[in-house]
Amino acid sequence: MAYFEKIKKFGVSGFVPEGWYWLVRSAEIKQGKAYPAKFLNTELVLYRGDDGKIRSFDAHCPHMGAHLCDGFVEGNSIRCPFHYWKYDENGHCTEIPAQKDIGNIPTLNSHKIKEAYGLVWLWTGHKDDQEEVPVIPELVGLPLDYQLGSHFIKGCHPNVVMINAIDVQHFRSVHQLVVDLEMKVTPLSDRCIQFSNITPLPEKNIFLKYIKRFYQKALTYEMTYWWGHTGSVMVGPDFLHFYIIFALRPTTDGRTEGQTILVTKQRKGLMGWLVNPVLLFATKLVGNYFAKGDTIIFSRINFKFQTPIRADKAIIDFVEHYEAQNPTAKY
Ligand code: FES
Ligand SMILES: [Fe+2]
Repeated sequence: MAYFEKIKKFGVSGFVPEGWYWLVRSAEIKQGKAYPAKFLNTELVLYRGDDGKIRSFDAHCPHMGAHLCDGFVEGNSIRCPFHYWKYDENGHCTEIPAQKDIGNIPTLNSHKIKEAYGLVWLWTGHKDDQEEVPVIPELVGLPLDYQLGSHFIKGCHPNVVMINAIDVQHFRSVHQLVVDLEMKVTPLSDRCIQFSNITPLPEKNIFLKYIKRFYQKALTYEMTYWWGHTGSVMVGPDFLHFYIIFALRPTTDGRTEGQTILVTKQRKGLMGWLVNPVLLFATKLVGNYFAKGDTIIFSRINFKFQTPIRADKAIIDFVEHYEAQNPTAKY
């Protein structure tokens, strides 16, 4: 059997793994107003209640199907714009203005939502488990500063965009990197896999010899993937690592909608005030480089991994990891 015939999920539009997916920017969801959102074919309503928390339900009212985004937020509840039925924060109907007894009204189907890094994320898994929104392994537990970078559309599946970060051959060809990277694979959980470069910088010239002083072991380059759709990159010399999260989600027409998030450690006082904006700006430049470098190729690629070679080892590991993912519950 040819290698690509074994691939059932990787790069396949009909398969979406369960996980957290970014939906919208947090700042777009103002308190006291309802908003429409969409994940694949599922239409949602989002609103921020009086307590500041965002809630999400299926968009259409179980009475006659009005879109709840046209309704009214009251406290932590939402009222349908059509006949003014009111639903509480758990989606239970608590008021029907034209009728005293409420009777047996279906509960709104709710969605698990979290806010992190300035984005609203949607959990698409079967179980309401405790899995975290993607983290940067090196920064776990530390207070962070972050900024949203670019929003982009790519003409291919999110997995194909994600490959880019571990496709060591194309670093040479497309990006003309002078180092051959070799990625060590570490599965961090069933849903999270990490690739870290283990090749030191070569000492080919004076410049590289100088730069090498800042990399104790290998050239720092690490990519951590969650559900094959969101990944965080760590690059930079030992004394200063840059962190970028690429949050991707599939579209119904097989493309990718992405958002980069620039992250750095919180620094105290004047240091933080002066240094962090500069660092985040520098991180943005690194992020743009990764996000835009391969645009033309992604716009025309007809992804079919037909001829894997040894140099594709990291990609093969990524494909295998992805093939073991569970599908989303709904959506
Ligand atoms: S459609 Fe929502 S209350 Fe009638
Ligand atoms: Fe690239």
